[in-house]
Amino acid sequence: MHNIMILGSGGREHAFAWKIKQSAHCGSLFVCPGNGGTAKIATNLAIGVSDFAAIKAACVEHSIDILLVGPEIPLVEGVYDYMEVELPELAVIGPSKTASQLEGSKAYAKEFMIENNIPTAGAFTVTVNRLEAGIAHLQSYPGPYVLKADGLAAGKGVLIIQDQAEAITALKEMLDGQFGHASSTVVIEDFLDGIEFSVFVLTDGKNYKVLPVAKDYKRIGENDQGLNTGGMGSVSPVSFVSESLMEEVIRSIIEPTMQGIQNRKLTYKGFVFLGLISVDNKPYVIEYNCRMGDPETEVVLPRIKNDFIELLSATADGSLDKVTIEEDPRYCTSVFLVSGGYPEKYEKNKEITSLEKVKDSIIFHAGTREDQGKIVTNGGRVIAVSSLGANKVEALALSMRNADIIDFENKYYRKDIGFDIN
Ligand code: AMP
Ligand code: GLY
Repeated sequence: MHNIMILGSGGREHAFAWKIKQSAHCGSLFVCPGNGGTAKIATNLAIGVSDFAAIKAACVEHSIDILLVGPEIPLVEGVYDYMEVELPELAVIGPSKTASQLEGSKAYAKEFMIENNIPTAGAFTVTVNRLEAGIAHLQSYPGPYVLKADGLAAGKGVLIIQDQAEAITALKEMLDGQFGHASSTVVIEDFLDGIEFSVFVLTDGKNYKVLPVAKDYKRIGENDQGLNTGGMGSVSPVSFVSESLMEEVIRSIIEPTMQGIQNRKLTYKGFVFLGLISVDNKPYVIEYNCRMGDPETEVVLPRIKNDFIELLSATADGSLDKVTIEEDPRYCTSVFLVSGGYPEKYEKNKEITSLEKVKDSIIFHAGTREDQGKIVTNGGRVIAVSSLGANKVEALALSMRNADIIDFENKYYRKDIGFDIN
């Protein structure tokens, strides 16, 4: 039996908890800090994901042997390295602080990709003292211009700008601290025109396994219009990711990524999230993340038949080569219910009703909390409604039906998830 602690409070973490609870090896399960959904199936602890000392103390108190890290912030801050020193017996699922730079620094990731011949957009890295060179670079080609804050910026650090003068102004503003320290270095990338998808790899540092492919929908509005969000829905599998495209992803991206991790002697026991774009059927890396995606996890985990604790244990002890990922052939869709106004100003503390009327979908809580026996909204992205079906149409029909049933004031969701693919 394993006692497990999950760090995080989103739909991804509720999905982890849901999957772990189904394992034959699940002892006790804790989530720091968790949400209204994880409270029902695990024990939430009011500890922030960056409070390493409190996390350590709770791991000792509850005899935790596996710590599964959901979000990127504690990884980039070095939770792996901290626990390696403080609690060497604890298996941390997630990369080391240095390896987390694959997500934590776009410049580091770009250098890594160039070093390993991994297809990605051409790029030019700028710091304040190289502003003139940065401007000259922008003036050397017509747009669109892709400007990326080097560091973590909660998904907001990428600007895509058509106009050259606007791009120059934006570059100056970013270097001037628009995203704080995160944009003191800016990576200017060539614009890639294609369709995006997400590939997830679980690695023990030497061996790796590819998990079900997914696609997320980031814009608030239908037809992918409007502001970017943390994710409005997702689907898995992805029809345009053919077997041959996936083979190319493995050959030209995953294999050299794993080789690069070995060459740089990076400690990596966890998930590698490849944000990819297919341009004329050839895959390029848009970004690396050092964790699972959200809302992709809410469609990927329901399609994995394996015992999840067996996967985590094999990751920790370096025996992933002995594991075969068993994919559920069914289709999975997830539709996010969000608070009206999100991703701009929105209200919290709205009671969520009719959850008990949901049939044939899996409900993953994100921005919710328990309040005197009621579940209330506690964030912009509130609940993910995930459904399995024989095909996309059947799965979506279930997600949409239940998205309609669950209720709270000013609920909004996109009715066109999966609209652009078969
Ligand atoms: P990132 O945070 O790097 O994933 O970028 C956020 C979003 O910006 C991506 O999901 C893409 O939609 C878009 N994007 C990033 N890089 C590029 C690029 N080089 N060309 C076109 N779109 C991009
Ligand atoms: N779905 C994108 C992310 O998790 O960053």
